[in-house]
Amino acid sequence: MTDKYAVIGNPVEHSLSPRIHRLFASETGHALTYKGFYSERDSFVESINIMRSTGFLGVNVTIPFKEEACALADSCTDRVVEANVANVLSFRDGKILADNTDGVGLVKDLEENLGFSIASKDILIIGAGGAAQGVIGPILTAVPASVTIANRTTLKAEALARKYEDNHLPVRAVTIKELENHEFHLVINATSSSLHGESLDLPVGLLTRDSLAYDMMYGPSAQTFLNSAFIAGATRLKDGLGMLVEQAAESFFIWRGVRPQTRDVIKTFRQGK
Ligand code: ATR
Repeated sequence: MTDKYAVIGNPVEHSLSPRIHRLFASETGHALTYKGFYSERDSFVESINIMRSTGFLGVNVTIPFKEEACALADSCTDRVVEANVANVLSFRDGKILADNTDGVGLVKDLEENLGFSIASKDILIIGAGGAAQGVIGPILTAVPASVTIANRTTLKAEALARKYEDNHLPVRAVTIKELENHEFHLVINATSSSLHGESLDLPVGLLTRDSLAYDMMYGPSAQTFLNSAFIAGATRLKDGLGMLVEQAAESFFIWRGVRPQTRDVIKTFRQGK
């Protein structure tokens, strides 16, 4: 029987993950299937149980189930314990193992694909939900000068920052208002504002011409934030397509023990193929 994998989410029909993993499978010569699996919001555990009982070996987990995936697992890697969210589940020997490859995917995309070195840079993350939680630890391992978290609900940003501040890491929370008169080398949108058709008000001067504005979403969903970033001063604008492909490659490595090449896959999607 061919090995089975999937991405589970709600919504899931527009996910590029099935196409990405099929490209990885053909590149590495691995025989597997990978499909999108829709789950009702209140049926995540049942959906996972169905997948396990029908022979799936692993799943990627996307919005809105990353926190539930973390809670459901029998064992979690250190990066899941730290982030409290998981985007990869492996089903082995009757157990569920959780990992998080979003953060390493983002760092790889920034440093290797986009040539943006995080070391000594001032970084702003907007948002304090699961998407932000998943990437702060890996960003810190690349030794930035500072990581600032700004969120509409300030208390959430403060709670997230405190975890790192308590360990003497250079993370702080600010209110959106306090962003005025601050400049960052990299501004990452980790909010879901564009999913609700809303834009973020970024103060002019937040980004300079040399700064990079990065949306963790890809395609049209990233455009609202990137337009705001352009108006706020940035000329380097990137969506999260590279991050998506890199986190997928790390997931593939966890499941299959082989790390696929990513550059041509990113290029294929950038060319709209
Ligand atoms: P997830 O955990 O999947 O990332 P979430 O918990 O809903 O999703 O978090 C989404 C993030 O986007 C939060 O930081 C949220 O801000 P709040 O904590 O204030 O809710 C942010 N967000 C969503 N819509 C937003 C909007 N219109 N403007 C600003 N921030 C928004």
